[in-house]
Amino acid sequence: TDKYAVFGNPIAHSKSPLIHGLFAQETEQTLEYEAILAPVDEFASCLNEFWKVNGKGANVTVPFKEQAFDLCDELSEQARLAGAVNTLTLLPNGGVRGDNTDGLGLVADLKRHIGELNGLSVLLVGAGGAARGSVLPLLQSGICKLTIVNRTQSKAERLAECFSRYGDVCSLPMEHDNQSYDIIINSTSSSLSGEVPNLSTQVIGTSTVCYDMMYGKEPTSFNIWAEGHGAKLTLDGLGMLVGQAAQSFAIWRKVKPNVEPVLVELRTLL
Ligand code: ATR
Repeated sequence: TDKYAVFGNPIAHSKSPLIHGLFAQETEQTLEYEAILAPVDEFASCLNEFWKVNGKGANVTVPFKEQAFDLCDELSEQARLAGAVNTLTLLPNGGVRGDNTDGLGLVADLKRHIGELNGLSVLLVGAGGAARGSVLPLLQSGICKLTIVNRTQSKAERLAECFSRYGDVCSLPMEHDNQSYDIIINSTSSSLSGEVPNLSTQVIGTSTVCYDMMYGKEPTSFNIWAEGHGAKLTLDGLGMLVGQAAQSFAIWRKVKPNVEPVLVELRTLL
């Protein structure tokens, strides 16, 4: 049986084995998918062991996405620009290919909820790894303009510069208050501590959709803030999680699973 796994540290609470197990059922694929706890300084050797025991592909999560990037023999453009890899595939020649499906999962989830993104303006909050992985997929999704803000503004400026040749992307101060956006995406970890980025409420208009990459049983602090200031719709990152898994599954198995039933099941388990 072909084997797949997610590598991380910690990894015990990963939902990936459940998600990929449900995808396998749904698409009638025979495979095994497990969670592997790699010691922080032994990721590469754990991965090599996995290839030896019929591992065919792996997901990679915190803190190994950059190490995974470093060991790839081949990279997708999206992974190269993200500087991080969440999906590894063993190639027939024994080499390893790296993809990054996080941003594609985000865009797929946005489209699932609101349809095509053509012509929309997007505000991306945050400039860390999660933001970086989303920029190219957003710029290639049909949106007309991407604005990046961050608590540390210089990081937003640098991120916008990195991607300037891929589309209309700029950075502004976090507190700017002269425009609203069609979509606002919170990629920061602020909701983990119950905080909200220091945005002006002016960024929310009557038709604004707000998206927090975080998720939980209860609405995130960012989404509570957004609702309170009149957002038309708020979405959390559970759909992005399932979306990135679906993209990985499709890379490995050449069949695209249906995310809806898996999302419904996961939501009940939160
Ligand atoms: P990740 O990989 O999840 O993006 P990261 O690379 O550590 O994690 O980036 C965290 C992001 O969340 C950064 O944009 C950070 O802002 P700074 O660059 O100014 O540190 C942002 N962040 C974290 N906590 C925040 C908070 N309470 N308010 C606003 N932004 C926050």
